[in-house]
Amino acid sequence: MKHIPLALTYDDVLIIPKRSSFKSRSEAQTKTKLTKKIDINIPIVSSNMDSVTESKMAIKLARLGGIGILHRFMTIEDNVEEVKKVKRAQSYIISDPYIIDPEKKIEEVKTFIQSVGVSGLLVAREDRKLLGILSSRDFMFANGDYEKVSEIMTPKEKLIVGNPETTFEEAKKIFAKHKIEKLPLVDDNYRIVGLITSDDIRHLVKYPMAVNDKQGRLLVGASVGVHGDYLERAQELVKAEVDVIVVDIAHGHSDLMFNAICKLRDICGQTELIVGNIATAKAAEELCEAGADALKVGVGPGTICITRIVTGCGVPQLTAVMEASGVAKHYGVPVIADGGIQKSGDIVKAIGAGADTVMLGGMLAGTSESPGVVMTKGDKKFKVCRGSASFTVANRRKKIKQEGKKLNEVVPEGVESIVPYKGGVKDIINQLTGGIKSGMSYTNSHSIAELQRNTEFVRISGAGQKESGAHDVKAIT
Ligand code: XMP
Repeated sequence: MKHIPLALTYDDVLIIPKRSSFKSRSEAQTKTKLTKKIDINIPIVSSNMDSVTESKMAIKLARLGGIGILHRFMTIEDNVEEVKKVKRAQSYIISDPYIIDPEKKIEEVKTFIQSVGVSGLLVAREDRKLLGILSSRDFMFANGDYEKVSEIMTPKEKLIVGNPETTFEEAKKIFAKHKIEKLPLVDDNYRIVGLITSDDIRHLVKYPMAVNDKQGRLLVGASVGVHGDYLERAQELVKAEVDVIVVDIAHGHSDLMFNAICKLRDICGQTELIVGNIATAKAAEELCEAGADALKVGVGPGTICITRIVTGCGVPQLTAVMEASGVAKHYGVPVIADGGIQKSGDIVKAIGAGADTVMLGGMLAGTSESPGVVMTKGDKKFKVCRGSASFTVANRRKKIKQEGKKLNEVVPEGVESIVPYKGGVKDIINQLTGGIKSGMSYTNSHSIAELQRNTEFVRISGAGQKESGAHDVKAIT
């Protein structure tokens, strides 16, 4: 019989503690590489699952130092809107602020404001000459939904404005002096050329770990497949200034993927491409050669995955990450360990195995920022978490005409489940980053690169695993 190699996952190993010079775990720096060119401040990426990442999750995670990858199970138009929502959530200067016509009725404006998710609008006609500002405060004094914008806005005569040269730093002083919330920037003809908001300043102070592009906007990724509308989708996402495209299919080591990479390279230009999912050194080598800017590693480890059961295929995640990253590092291509992370210690192990970041699905599902409604059953609250290859998602894809497959031909490789409602994602991220930093201190690693170098694993037995958790007591917190 041929030799069958052993493959391990996170629970099969522990990291050997090393002499540490740390005085506090805050000395650990969690900055890491998402792709060849993009750095993020914590090694956490939210999964492009439809129950995990839309703009709300992407905004929060980028503010906390990670990055969200938007799912693709929506129309291209909606996908573009989601990118724009993240890109507009904060910036140094909004170069293309939303405007509203002065003749519009309050009723229409309220719907518009809700759909774009901003707190106020500049008022102008098509010539974009500033006429006033409409803020949420103005709505409070409106007499009804049928009043016109021009009747309740703050007119330009009462506004403080800046000019095209006004800097973010100057704006800060203007906000402080005049106690205003929005500073429109106008040229000599009073044409709108930008907007600076006090919210943006507040965000910079409140979220010092946020990952930003050159204009101070939050970073965001979006996923595409390799069939149907994927090229058009990628093109529109790039136009909307998405920071990274993730080509995400269940079996990334496939001709379909190589073909897609060739075509997407032309379309995406400088926008970086993350590709996956894979689970072997060979796949890593060939995809690095094909021009991947990062690899997504994981076939079947996810909370809601049944790929291994349905197909008999996959590689336990620790081994998959070690194999793929062993090759990828020679190409300078970062690795995302995708799936199977259940606790902060698993993230430390994934990075110790060579990953640069981890992608989380189940752990971030069920939070206030994940898509979907909170359901109540008895005194407990839940949200849905489902696999991208589940029957429900197949149905969703069919509805938006993304795929022609008949539903009775679908063989699901993922399940739909409910997970307890967990509240805000911030608390989860704080716990995870605290755990990662502690793990770094046990290995005397001040950076992610050091953690990758310093990690030495030991294999443990079932008894060792049992010993590793709280045991022989009834935990109360
Ligand atoms: P966790 O463990 O973080 O894993 O929930 C999230 C990752 O699981 C993958 N994924 C799937 N895998 N069938 C699969 O075999 C599916 O339906 C499915 N949906 C998501 C994906 O890589 C995700 O990031």
